[in-house]
Amino acid sequence: MLKFSESVSFDRRLAPFDIAGSKAHSAMLAHVGLITPGERNAIHAGLDAILAQIKGGRFAWDEKLEDVHMNIERALTRRVPAAAKLPTARSRNDQVATDMRLFFKYACAALGVRVLGVQRALLGVADANRGVVMPGYTHLQRAQPVCASHHLLAWIEMLERDRTRLSEVAGKANVCPLGSGAIAGTTLPIDREFAARMLGFVDRRGRPRVTQNSMDAVADRDLFIEFALACALLGVHFSRIAEDLILWTSSEFRFVSLPDAFSTGSSLMPQKKNPDACELLRGKSARLQGNLHTLLTLVKGLPMTYNRDLQEDKPPVFDSFDQASMCADVLEGTVRGMSFNRGRCADAASDPALLATDLADYLVSRGVPFREAHHAVGAVVALAESRGCAIPDLTNAEVNRVHPRFGKGWASVFDLDRALSMRKGTGMPGPAQVARQLARWKKTLG
Ligand code: ARG
Repeated sequence: MLKFSESVSFDRRLAPFDIAGSKAHSAMLAHVGLITPGERNAIHAGLDAILAQIKGGRFAWDEKLEDVHMNIERALTRRVPAAAKLPTARSRNDQVATDMRLFFKYACAALGVRVLGVQRALLGVADANRGVVMPGYTHLQRAQPVCASHHLLAWIEMLERDRTRLSEVAGKANVCPLGSGAIAGTTLPIDREFAARMLGFVDRRGRPRVTQNSMDAVADRDLFIEFALACALLGVHFSRIAEDLILWTSSEFRFVSLPDAFSTGSSLMPQKKNPDACELLRGKSARLQGNLHTLLTLVKGLPMTYNRDLQEDKPPVFDSFDQASMCADVLEGTVRGMSFNRGRCADAASDPALLATDLADYLVSRGVPFREAHHAVGAVVALAESRGCAIPDLTNAEVNRVHPRFGKGWASVFDLDRALSMRKGTGMPGPAQVARQLARWKKTLG
């Protein structure tokens, strides 16, 4: 049962938050006169000493004391007799809820910084490869040419949503449950706002934010799920980026090469350089989704309020945080060391068929309704295919037999630089717009 029920093996990492919570709680107890200032000072000194021991790896954790809370409480009581008053008006239920809210505020900020690192790496590569043109894909078929930087900027957009999501989770975490007790608060005259203020659970104007229902405060695990969701979706984004990179490094594409430090060889085939980092990024996303699912299932059938099942809420959260953080670091390194093969990208983008839509736009600019233009260009594509030549190699006469509005200027559409420079509207992949977006991101990402 000891082995089965202990959580200190994984919740000991909450120690700094638990100690911060206990310092605030004891300060509040002194503030309302439930302990003396001397007792508060002794408790604070004891907690500081214990934190120093923990940080120095000198603290003797004991499984028999179940969790981080009881381990610290016992160690404190041994040093400071007044520690027997620390649990006044507090239960492990509001204590662990508080610890985890402090953890989420920290974790969201820390993970956000790592995601920012990936974005900055992507921005650097996008900036250094402004001139690289490649095909953009739909259905994994070559669709239309784009600046490679535009593709990288798409990933930056994606990751910006992840950073926003993380800061929203941190915002929701910013409410203090202390004072909820086990379920029904306390009969003692505590000052919840005082403790909340001390722990930084305050709004922009410095006003304390405290939970408004003691039962919900100890039963609620929404933040765990929302944090795991933020990590899972971040993982999905990392996985999609990784998948593009895996495709781009294959012999079939050879658009980019990845740094050796983030690739591996085969134990059998001497010629192989495998994109293992990217494959693991894809794989880890499964694990991050699993953690989300674990938490959703953990909570779904629980009666109000706290149930011991909830102790199982921490391993998936910590795992998501640790794995997502590592994923970000590995992706940042991979991106920093990647290089584009300009020639291969240009070759792939040079197929005139990628500008078939531009040819339809050309007809539209000459007064042809789009559906009719689409149809005419389809016929031109088929004609070139049957002749075994590229579209621009067809003659004026052949093309004008398909539709008279093609006239003489139709072949100018197949100038790739021109085609890209015409895509200059907001959000489009032409070089002028890409330059604007790069400048915008440089400002945003610092
Ligand atoms: N280790 C417990 C957890 O993480 C702390 C709360 C325990 N509360 C209780 N009443 N047994 O859930």
